Amino acid sequence: MLITGTSRGIGAFLSGYYAEKGYQVFGCSRGPVDFELENYRHFCLDISDEKQVLAMFTDIRKACGRLDVLINNAGIASMNHVLLTPYATARGIVDTNIIGTFLFCREAAKLMQRHNFGRIVNFATVATPLKLEGEAMYAASKAAVVSLTQVLARELAPLGITVNAVGPTPVKTDLIRSVPREKMEALISRQAIPRFGNMEDIANVIDFFISPESDFITGQVLYLGGV
Ligand SMILES: NC(=O)c1ccc[n+]([C@@H]2O[C@H](COP(=O)([O-])OP(=O)(O)OC[C@H]3O[C@@H](n4cnc5c(N)ncnc54)[C@H](OP(=O)(O)O)[C@@H]3O)[C@@H](O)[C@H]2O)c1
Repeated sequence: MLITGTSRGIGAFLSGYYAEKGYQVFGCSRGPVDFELENYRHFCLDISDEKQVLAMFTDIRKACGRLDVLINNAGIASMNHVLLTPYATARGIVDTNIIGTFLFCREAAKLMQRHNFGRIVNFATVATPLKLEGEAMYAASKAAVVSLTQVLARELAPLGITVNAVGPTPVKTDLIRSVPREKMEALISRQAIPRFGNMEDIANVIDFFISPESDFITGQVLYLGGV
């Protein structure tokens, strides 16, 4: 299993969760991780840097010869009115959330097709269907991730690979630390079930998507909290 964005937040949780379940987990982020797990190996890289990504996949291929699951968790957000959004911020969001997800899907599929089996889980967000003001570039980048998920589901189905996405509600991580409390409460009140999400809510959806029995489920986006 390969998980992106494992240095903190949801990715760090998922690394421990799946390592404990017995997966050999490969993880990556720009920075190092502050945990040590027996069946976890970390790569420091930027997911939008094609050269670094290709080098990591070469290492994984040499070490295992196969990849069963990709969890495309790494992502960045920026909470800004469009008039206050610098070019560099918009560029960074596109490169990380769209190009990074694309590169990992492409390279993972090359490895997965060898065994005619694969499970890819991408990360969407409720910011897209809720059309959240102040998150235009973030919501747009995740709309692109949804589109990638739906088209790749069709392109990769003949190779035995499913591609789905989980769409979390706000979860208390660094990603949303700078969002004002009133804004967060207003957002959560728009969910059918108005509470913060937690790590287990997300792992539950991923467990479902990656289970062998889910081989007839692809191209789906599962939003949490009833959004
Ligand atoms: N938390 C929420 O409320 C929420 C809600 C909806 C969706 N999501 C989605 O859930 C996913 C995880 O979010 P999170 O809350 O866990 O975020 P987080 O706490 O900010 O962690 C993001 C992770 O991604 C890594 N990362 C960021 N840019 C990277 C890059 N260019 N290359 C490699 N690694 C990179 C970060 O590590 P480095 O900085 O070391 O690179 C970090 O490990 C994201 O896709 C996010 O959009 C989160």
